[in-house]
Amino acid sequence: MATYLISGIAGFIGSNLARELVRRGETVRGFDNFQTGKRENLEELKGKIEFRELSLLDATGVKDVCRGVDYVLHQAAIPSVPKSVLDPVTSHESNITGTLNLLIAARDAGVKRVVYAASSSAYGDTPALPKHEGMMPNPISPYAVQKLCGELYLTSFSRVYGMETVSLRYFNIFGPRQDPTSPYSGVLAKFITQMLADRPCTIFGDGEQSRDFTYIDNAVNANLLACAALAEKVNGRVFNVATGTRFSLNQTFKMLSAIIGYSRNPEYQEPRAGDVKHSLADISKAHQALGYQPTVGFEEGLRRTVEWYKQAVLTMTARGMPS
Ligand SMILES: NC(=O)c1ccc[n+]([C@@H]2O[C@H](COP(=O)([O-])OP(=O)(O)OC[C@H]3O[C@@H](n4cnc5c(N)ncnc54)[C@H](O)[C@@H]3O)[C@@H](O)[C@H]2O)c1
Repeated sequence: MATYLISGIAGFIGSNLARELVRRGETVRGFDNFQTGKRENLEELKGKIEFRELSLLDATGVKDVCRGVDYVLHQAAIPSVPKSVLDPVTSHESNITGTLNLLIAARDAGVKRVVYAASSSAYGDTPALPKHEGMMPNPISPYAVQKLCGELYLTSFSRVYGMETVSLRYFNIFGPRQDPTSPYSGVLAKFITQMLADRPCTIFGDGEQSRDFTYIDNAVNANLLACAALAEKVNGRVFNVATGTRFSLNQTFKMLSAIIGYSRNPEYQEPRAGDVKHSLADISKAHQALGYQPTVGFEEGLRRTVEWYKQAVLTMTARGMPS
C-alpha cells in the first residue's frame, strides 16, 4: 500500500481518483483551494482521506503536504480556456507557478513519481488526425500554453533532478461530478441536465464536430497504471489518454435522447469562434508503455453518467448550476 497525494481533489477528476484509490485500500491525501472544485465532491470521502484546504501557490504548505508521499497525482489547475484568455496571469499562476511549486516540493520530499494532468489542447487546431505524441505541439490559448509548459517542467525535473514523472494528455474526459460549464465535455453534462428537465438543447454549428470523449474510469485507470509502470518505459514521457474513437455532437445527442427518452429536436446556433472541429487520439503509445486500454466505452459511459445525474440533478438545480 502506498500514500497518494491528489492536488485538485475537490474537482471532477481528482475526486474520482480519490474514490478509486480509497476503494483499493490506498492511503489518500488531497488538497484544493476550491477555485472550481466543490465541497460536495468530498462529502462521500469524509473520514476516508486526509484533506487540506490549500493553494498550489502556498509553497510552504505544498512542501508540508508532500511529506511522506509516494505518488503525486497533479490534477489542480484552472481548467478553462476562456478564463485564461480573460485573465492569463491568474491562470498562469495556478497552472505554471503552482505546478512548479508542487514539483519542487515533491522533489525535496523524495516522492517516487509525479503524474500530471496534461491536456490535448497542446495539439491545437491542426487538422491531422489522429493526434499522436510525436506531433509538434501547437497550443493556441494561454491555457494550452500553460498545460504544455507543465509537461515540459515534468520532463525537465526527470532529466535534471532524476525525479520520475509522467504526463497524461487527457482528451475530453466526462462522467459523474463534471461541472456542466466545463470547457471539455461540459456539453455532455449540459445535454443530460437539460434533457432530464425536458428543456431545449443547443448545438453550436452543424453538430458534425466530433470528439474523442473519454469516460472518467478510463482516465482514473490511466493514472494508476502510470504510477505502477516501469520507469524505463514511462519516465519523463507524455501519453495520450483517450479512447481512439470519436463521436459527433449529432450522434451524441441521438444516443442521449434514446437513453433518457427525450423527444425534442436540438436547436442549432452559429458555431462558436475557436471551436476545434474534430479531435481523435492515437492511444497506441499508452497501450504499449502503460498497458492502458479503455475499459468503458462511450455509450456505457453515457448511461452511467445519466444514472448519476438522475440522482443528482434536483440537488444541482437547487444549487443553481447553470443549464
Ligand atoms: N476534464 C477534462 O476533460 C480535461 C482535459 C484535459 C486536461 N484536464 C486537466 O485535468 C485536471 C482536472 O480537471 P477537471 O476537469 O477535474 O477540472 P476541475 O475544475 O473539476 O478540477 C480542478 C481542481 O483544481 C483546483 N484548483 C485550481 N487552482 C488551484 C490552486 N491554485 N490550488 C489548489 N487547487 C486548485 C480546483 O478548485 C478544482 O478542484 C486539470 O489540470 C485540467 O487542466 C482535464
